[in-house]
Amino acid sequence: MEEDRIVAGGAQDADTWQFSLRPKRLNEYIGQDQVKQNLAVFIQAAASRGEALDHVLLYGPPGLGKTTLAGIIANELGAGFRVTSGPAVERPGDLAALLTNLADRDVLFIDEIHRLPRGVEEILYTAMEDYALDIIIGKGPSARSIRLDLPRFTLVGATTRAGALGAPLRDRFGVVCRLEYYEQQHLECIIKRAAEILNIAVDDRGSQEIARRSRGTPRVANRLLKRVRDFAQVAADGVITQEVADQALAMLEVDSRGLDKTDRRLLTTIIAMFGGGPVGVETLAAAISEETATIEDVYEPFLMQLGLLSRTPRGRVVTPAAYDHVGIAYKGDNGEKQAKLW
Ligand SMILES: Nc1ncnc2c1ncn2[C@@H]1O[C@H](COP(=O)(O)OP(=O)(O)O)[C@@H](O)[C@H]1O
Ligand SMILES: [Mg+2]
Repeated sequence: MEEDRIVAGGAQDADTWQFSLRPKRLNEYIGQDQVKQNLAVFIQAAASRGEALDHVLLYGPPGLGKTTLAGIIANELGAGFRVTSGPAVERPGDLAALLTNLADRDVLFIDEIHRLPRGVEEILYTAMEDYALDIIIGKGPSARSIRLDLPRFTLVGATTRAGALGAPLRDRFGVVCRLEYYEQQHLECIIKRAAEILNIAVDDRGSQEIARRSRGTPRVANRLLKRVRDFAQVAADGVITQEVADQALAMLEVDSRGLDKTDRRLLTTIIAMFGGGPVGVETLAAAISEETATIEDVYEPFLMQLGLLSRTPRGRVVTPAAYDHVGIAYKGDNGEKQAKLW
């Protein structure tokens, strides 16, 4: 299960401890410089006009800081912060209740916004555009529609897949921010910051090693730090050095580039069962008993980022570097297949 993986980007129960780790202001939010710069300008402009900020869409793989950033936006605006998620808003009435209870300039955060039911999503259109709700009262010929005014609010939506969002919804966001996997130096800062807050002793090379194996993802970095800390306390003298981090991560089966068992199984399955690809994602999902959506949202973006996998019109193909990484001799025919595909 994706949820059980130590390198999973998604939130887990054990992550509640991380609440203390969530940066609260923009200047504590490490990395994503482009996104931060843009948001800082928009926030300042809205604040100086005394208006609500335009609606913001945040997208990117799990664990990159979307929820954190939504909270920061509300803080920076000095506005209230209401949180819900796509699957939690089941009926139009649920959304109407949320919207009518907002105060002026509040931030409403809808996580996994691509999972809003269609009927609910449609209500959101007028709410976002006109700050109004159209409600139908009665049935049949006597039915009439009344319009309810809403406070000026800012919708912050988060999604792992901007592609899953219909154009009518996507177009109503004035600000669209794509979060990227973090660079090594930024992950190191995140780890050092977390270590300080949690009172964990880690030296430079220890934090470098953890950063290298964190899939470019702050949530994974923080989680690995915590697990390596356990190891350091039991097996070493409590300080996380590179050696300690390396041993602990090897025990956790997180390899030198941050891949875990499932990542490696995905790559070796494509190689061993499908001759390196191309293989359709559904077929692949069945072969490794994972959900298609999980493969698309979680595993693939990272493996592609590392250059181990590519998506082609005919399916998934592993690269020669993937053979190298999982230790299978590369015979070259896959390369020819790829050359033909492109
Ligand atoms: N830019 C950042 N700087 C420092 N810590 C971060 C940053 N982004 C995320 N984190 C940490 O990673 C964790 C996961 O972030 P979160 O906002 O929940 O990700 P997402 O909503 O995208 O899945 C947070 O608890 C926070 O501690
Ligand atoms: Mg989140």
